[in-house]
Amino acid sequence: MKKADVAKAILADQLFSMPQHSCAEAFAPTNIALGKYWGKRNQELNLPVTSSLSISLDNKGATAQLKINEKHRDDIILNNRLIDPTSSFAKRLIEFLNLFRENEKPNFDITIQSNIPIAAGLASSACGFASIIKALNNLYGWNLDSQELSILARLGSGSASRSIWSGFVEWHAGTRDDGMDSYGEPISTLWPDLIIGLLIFSEQDKGLSSRVAMQRTIETSLLYNSWPSKVAHDLPLLKQAIATQDFELLGKTAESNALTMHATMLSAWPPINYCLPETLLTMQKIWRLREEGLPIYFTQDAGPNLKLLFLKNSLADVRSHFSLI
Ligand code: PMV
Repeated sequence: MKKADVAKAILADQLFSMPQHSCAEAFAPTNIALGKYWGKRNQELNLPVTSSLSISLDNKGATAQLKINEKHRDDIILNNRLIDPTSSFAKRLIEFLNLFRENEKPNFDITIQSNIPIAAGLASSACGFASIIKALNNLYGWNLDSQELSILARLGSGSASRSIWSGFVEWHAGTRDDGMDSYGEPISTLWPDLIIGLLIFSEQDKGLSSRVAMQRTIETSLLYNSWPSKVAHDLPLLKQAIATQDFELLGKTAESNALTMHATMLSAWPPINYCLPETLLTMQKIWRLREEGLPIYFTQDAGPNLKLLFLKNSLADVRSHFSLI
């Protein structure tokens, strides 16, 4: 099964229909996984080995605008910069758009404005593809529901399937070969006192994409064999922590889940280590502050930056130790 077959299955007669508007835009929040997605059971459809669970950062994400143009080419402007059409980012985006248009027409001016560092392990591809699919839904007037949008966003980037909603989201791994049961589902519990602080050590491109890193880990790391049981252990604990607002349980489960994911990468060959010296020094600082009584935890994705987890009543304390964005 190809991506195009999934687009056809979801859009049916609406696939390749005429756009209803000449311009449309949409916002999608970025999401931070507390229980990570690491490893694909199907690389073409971005179907994951395990389920995962995230929290969306409501005010941080991407706004995508699609405007039909008559230039016979797509222009992509990312954060006010025209993107080289031969770059891997442009190719990936155009390949995604081509799923939904016949003979690569109409052409678009695509503007993506993101208020988070792109490709620095801050799940920016997640909000990028989620905002694009939402903008396409508006442009074409498809009226898809959120579950269908989640499945289509997944074809662009796995974690984009969770960026359709705000709040907590579980992405069900599903078991079907066509991935029709692999989509995000929002968890209705709100936790207004929970804060995610971003610690940026580098905004540089991470070098090794999560796609390549995941695949290498699956193929070469023996430790990866224990990853599905780690997720099976952690996801119920994360859900319990959210339901009972148990911050310590949430923090320690999320931190341990991220460290286990990175352990599978360290044991891959060639080894993968996304940490910078600042990343490791900051982990040690977090562990020291926690021992001294500050309730603070971290998570880390496929990049050197850390995301801090803490409660609102620790904000002043946390700010005195870290410069958050
Ligand atoms: O969706 P991708 O291919 O960018 O992969 C994201 C992988 C992690 O960020 C490391 C984990 C996650 O669940 O977001």
